[in-house]
Amino acid sequence: MSTIISNRRVAKGIYVMHAEGRFEAKRGQFFMVRGWEGYPLLARPLSVYDQDEYGVKFLYKVAGEGTQMLSRMSAGDSVTLLGPLGSGFPEARGRTALVGGGIGIAPLFYAAKHMEQADLYLGFSEEVYEEQEFRSLGHRLEIDCGGIVLDRVNFDDYDTIFVCGPEPMLRAAQMKSVMSSGRAAVYVSLENRMACGIGACLVCSVGCENGRKKACSDGPVFRAEEVVLA
Ligand SMILES: Cc1cc2nc3c(=O)[nH]c(=O)nc-3n(C[C@H](O)[C@H](O)[C@H](O)COP(=O)(O)OP(=O)(O)OC[C@H]3O[C@@H](n4cnc5c(N)ncnc54)[C@H](O)[C@@H]3O)c2cc1C
Ligand code: FES
Repeated sequence: MSTIISNRRVAKGIYVMHAEGRFEAKRGQFFMVRGWEGYPLLARPLSVYDQDEYGVKFLYKVAGEGTQMLSRMSAGDSVTLLGPLGSGFPEARGRTALVGGGIGIAPLFYAAKHMEQADLYLGFSEEVYEEQEFRSLGHRLEIDCGGIVLDRVNFDDYDTIFVCGPEPMLRAAQMKSVMSSGRAAVYVSLENRMACGIGACLVCSVGCENGRKKACSDGPVFRAEEVVLA
């Protein structure tokens, strides 16, 4: 059990939860988070947004029942955290771009915080949030609101590109990767539905070039050309 330090609303339907605990999360890892007893049965996967000496932070969007319940919690309430899980982002080589769409920006803050160089591209549909936090990292930052953030990224300018966002955006990144010179190693972070989060149930199974893999334990980050997106 972990005690919530704060759970603040940062935009319409978007929250940042800070929960106590000492963790050694790597960039791109996630936790299975549960703030209730009994129903709903399953914990919800949330990426590590940040980590400090007090605990771990999650930037999350209210999507359904579970995240709605999390959003109603307050400082002093308890959450169950299983993690950190997943393999996270591999080491970035050369010039690096971090591209996030919607709540897919969540894992990019912690990733960028621990990179000497990274260009950040953040895409929002209606409202920009956590801009000052991202600016405080001191990296080059481009923000797109209402457009297509991937259009701003020239894949040939980079050696490594990490893309997090909704599946159509990941498919577009795959396409851009194929159409580019191939200089960049492109990685996508999947948001498959998960049940156990630890590789035991196969709910998160994803088609890959060498057979099926588990998004939770083999990923959630994969080489763009490796995964078959529906
Ligand atoms: C590795 C990983 C990291 C994620 N990181 C974040 C994050 O940092 N911030 C954030 O806001 N969201 C994140 N998501 C998506 C988040 O897990 C879902 O929005 C959330 O589980 C929805 O739960 P719900 O009960 O509110 O919605 P419901 O639709 O009621 O959920 C029903 C079931 O479907 C699953 N589910 C629904 N939508 C998704 C989805 N998009 N991805 C995965 N499972 C889903 C739920 O876990 C639950 O088991 C992440 C997903 C994955 C797989
Ligand atoms: S969620 Fe159970 S194997 Fe991945």
